[in-house]
Amino acid sequence: MTLNIDWENLGFTYMNLPYRFIAHFKDGQWDNGGLTEDATLHLSESSPALHYGQQAFEGLKAYRTKSCEIQLFRPDQNAERLQRTARRLLMPEVPTELFINAAKAVVKANHQYVPPYESGGSLYLRPLLIGVGDVIGVQPAQEYIFTIFAMPVGNYFKGGLTPTNFIVSRDFDRAAPHGTGAAKVGGNYAASLLPGQKAHDAGYSDVIYLDPATHTKIEEVGSANFFGITKDNEFVTPLSPSILPSITKYSLLYLAEHRLGLKASEGDVYVDDLEKFSEAGACGTAAVISPIGGIQNGDNYHVFYSETEVGPITRQLYNELVGIQKGDVTAPEGWIYKV
Ligand code: PLP
Ligand code: COI
Repeated sequence: MTLNIDWENLGFTYMNLPYRFIAHFKDGQWDNGGLTEDATLHLSESSPALHYGQQAFEGLKAYRTKSCEIQLFRPDQNAERLQRTARRLLMPEVPTELFINAAKAVVKANHQYVPPYESGGSLYLRPLLIGVGDVIGVQPAQEYIFTIFAMPVGNYFKGGLTPTNFIVSRDFDRAAPHGTGAAKVGGNYAASLLPGQKAHDAGYSDVIYLDPATHTKIEEVGSANFFGITKDNEFVTPLSPSILPSITKYSLLYLAEHRLGLKASEGDVYVDDLEKFSEAGACGTAAVISPIGGIQNGDNYHVFYSETEVGPITRQLYNELVGIQKGDVTAPEGWIYKV
């Protein structure tokens, strides 16, 4: 079968692929789960996921290597983050083995949809954990669905490795101090829809969120973490309990230090002190590494390296990260799972 897909221009849009994995939690345990062709979830109208947001999701990717094999990048980290999120929302943890086997099964079953090596695309996997069943009080569900579906994707931000611009949100936060910012729950994204829309309407790629307590420090770049390269070549990324602990960010912290020989740290990134950075970017599974051209902060517009060219260290980090993900660069121990 030949698929009628324009691999080079995928963007980030839903596609209904032939197979997805689904498992059910009932009477205190997970069943084995399995693949299904049914792309519709069947759940009670009173499911806590629908009313009270008792749900969580993940995002990870499968990559086609030059020799046409398929591999996943750090799926164990996504499994662990989903377990942390589950604990925060009183949901049952999905065991790492179930998570990874489900991810592999979905990739294998839809292998024709993993974009070719040369296209620059990948297969995005969306694991989802939802509280279901007949509950109407504000309390945890007794039953849960865990599913993973997938779709081929390209760039999340339009520019790819071309820088795009962002705007600081002062009227809206995505998360509260001691809230659920560090958990990957839908409510955080619901809160980001309005500021995100306003940013797009004003011509920016997305919103820069500040720390909700003081509005002085950068926290997130839309659905991605922030990083900057200081003028004396240090990789710096925000540290805060209300940002999502990005697996890409932790991978870059490691690669900056161990492969590029930079100092690398997490710490405060004051929005009024951007002068110290020579480059900046957004990082995440969907965003990969997206260079930040400029940031609009009130009346102040700050340009980092350039509005049109990616900076040299951001490019090196990109080459190292994507090289590992696509099998061209030797990965640190345990980062790659062959499918
Ligand atoms: N921050 C937010 C709010 C996100 O939604 C994501 C996406 O998962 C990230 C950061 C990046 O995390 P990761 O690198 O694990 O994909
Ligand atoms: C990801 O990078 O996997 C994300 O979850 C971002 C997404 C909300 C599009």
